[in-house]
Amino acid sequence: MMIKEPETLILVGFMGAGKTTVGQEIARQHHSQFVDIDSEIERIAKQSIPELFRSRGEAGFRQIESEVLASLQTFKGIVATGGGVVERMENLEILKQSAATVIYLHGNLESTINRLLIEGQRPLLQEKSTADFFNLWQLRDPKYKMIANFTVETVGKTPERIAAEIIALF
Ligand code: S3P
Repeated sequence: MMIKEPETLILVGFMGAGKTTVGQEIARQHHSQFVDIDSEIERIAKQSIPELFRSRGEAGFRQIESEVLASLQTFKGIVATGGGVVERMENLEILKQSAATVIYLHGNLESTINRLLIEGQRPLLQEKSTADFFNLWQLRDPKYKMIANFTVETVGKTPERIAAEIIALF
């Protein structure tokens, strides 16, 4: 597949896939800029993500998420998205048409759930059973694949190794 813009990478994948950690590691190794969309949302809203979900609901959160994604279209560096960035059609369009290279960090459901249980802090996790989670996974996986230029397997790998594999693609 043609590499679009190696200096700008957008990491996508399910929550708990390691997008932020891997993105920071790539940026560190490459001396690139790094933006985490969830952190940008918190900065703009002046609230943590759980607080934002409580005060403005998921729809309010998604609105800011789309605005932040749209504002990054000329950004050069590494972008970590939130797992739900594929929930809105307008975001899929931006990601499909982006000059950036989109990378899907693909894990498995079991290791992801384990990681999320340790980390906590995801509002969507509190409302969902394992079955709901599985359904969400099934719904999102094809969307991540549709927008990604590359899929990188993450199971059993350290963030450093995943970052090195991504860097080696270019
Ligand atoms: C979400 C994932 C989270 C965060 C929010 C919603 C989702 O980001 O944006 O809690 O819908 O999957 P991470 O993927 O970084 O956990």
